Amino acid sequence: MKIAMIGTGYVGLVSGTCFADFGHQVICVDKDQGKIDALLSGRMPIYEPGLESLVASNVAAGRLSFTTSLAEGIAGVDAIFIAVGTPSRRGDGHADLSYVYAAAREIGEHLTHDCVVVTKSTVPVGTGDEVERIIAEVSGGKHVPVVSNPEFLREGAAIGDFKRPDRIVIGTEDEHARAVMREVYRPLFLNEAPILFTARRTAELTKYAANAFLATKITFINEIADLCEVVGADVRDVARGIGLDNRIGSKFLHAGPGYGGSCFPKDTVALLKTAQDNAVPQRIVEAVVSVNDNRKRAMGRKVINAMGGSVRGKRVAILGLTFKPNTDDMRDAPSIAIVQALLDAGATVVATDPEGMEAAAPMMPDVTMVDSAYAAAEGADAVVIVTEWDAFRALDLGRLASLVNDRVLVDLRNIYRRDEVERAGFVHHSVGLPD
Ligand code: UGA
Repeated sequence: MKIAMIGTGYVGLVSGTCFADFGHQVICVDKDQGKIDALLSGRMPIYEPGLESLVASNVAAGRLSFTTSLAEGIAGVDAIFIAVGTPSRRGDGHADLSYVYAAAREIGEHLTHDCVVVTKSTVPVGTGDEVERIIAEVSGGKHVPVVSNPEFLREGAAIGDFKRPDRIVIGTEDEHARAVMREVYRPLFLNEAPILFTARRTAELTKYAANAFLATKITFINEIADLCEVVGADVRDVARGIGLDNRIGSKFLHAGPGYGGSCFPKDTVALLKTAQDNAVPQRIVEAVVSVNDNRKRAMGRKVINAMGGSVRGKRVAILGLTFKPNTDDMRDAPSIAIVQALLDAGATVVATDPEGMEAAAPMMPDVTMVDSAYAAAEGADAVVIVTEWDAFRALDLGRLASLVNDRVLVDLRNIYRRDEVERAGFVHHSVGLPD
């Protein structure tokens, strides 16, 4: 199969590279000359474990190439994937579809053969109809089947998620398009990955429903954690106790500072907009969004309380800035609200993160960035673990404690046990365990 992938963000670059690795001929298209130049010289525009070597081997094998020209990219291909960004539109939270529609228009302008167009970007219900209409209008009446094929990959685990998916969802009412998609994903059928053929609108909504449900699961356990702290229970045991019930499942029940990232915050809000436009309220998702928003700043207050109620003139060491480990992504990271709450309350903040400091620095001009947990702890009054990077999982707690004045450790990801933290000489605070 010959495939064009429009957009070299997370989804586009990972999907395009993995399709090439399956043996397809893939050309990735991006308008951003800088990004394409970087890719052509082997530099990745994003940090994703394993991606650089997978790109290099597929480029060397002649299966993967890059261009800024959409016309050149789509020439003679069997399928064109649209994997451009759908950020939150400023002001109203709707998904901004201008990049998707611009891609559709350009496809319509340049398409001279029959092929299938596939939206991989997360797009609200009905977007496929509009993409199909735009292509027909611009191309002067050409009918091109448009398929919805949402992506469920996680940043930091994207290649594994793509190659060993829990399921593949393909939404189309067109028989030929279904056959093309079957060929595209053939290597995964051989691995017996469950594949779900649905109507196009169903596939579009499935993506939002999946992310909203996962966000709900996290938010649910976070509220149970708050209750645990007050009534004297341990949220990790509660999570395990409920998670062993197969109907609930043990994943996504880690209590923490609230979800962030490029997907859950934007997709939950976009789902609410769709609900509003259709006059079908989604009250559970509404509650999830508001509880999670409040939680991030509340974590700042939790740190202040752990430090005796005032942080004026005190120094706080933040370990981890990105919204989760193994990414350099700072979008909607809980650290942003936590750091702001501490600065507002008069603290000095020193932070470290294995991959996120470059992206974080302009967002936090008043924070000093250093390159290790120990450097951050030097002369601090408290240490706060915000992101559970591996680099913070096996710290020498005794050494860390010896560097800190007030010896307060706030573990917002519950990666250390209370007994080991206390043995090192720290006062331990965590999520979902009474202080
Ligand atoms: C998420 C979904 O997991 C993917 O399936 C989906 O494809 C993707 O969004 C997307 O729509 O593109 P991602 O945002 O990369 O992936 O990250 P997750 O690993 O899902 O984590 C999201 C947030 O939830 C993080 O802030 C994480 O710390 C938090 N989280 C996750 C918890 O606080 N507790 C948990 O138990 C799990």
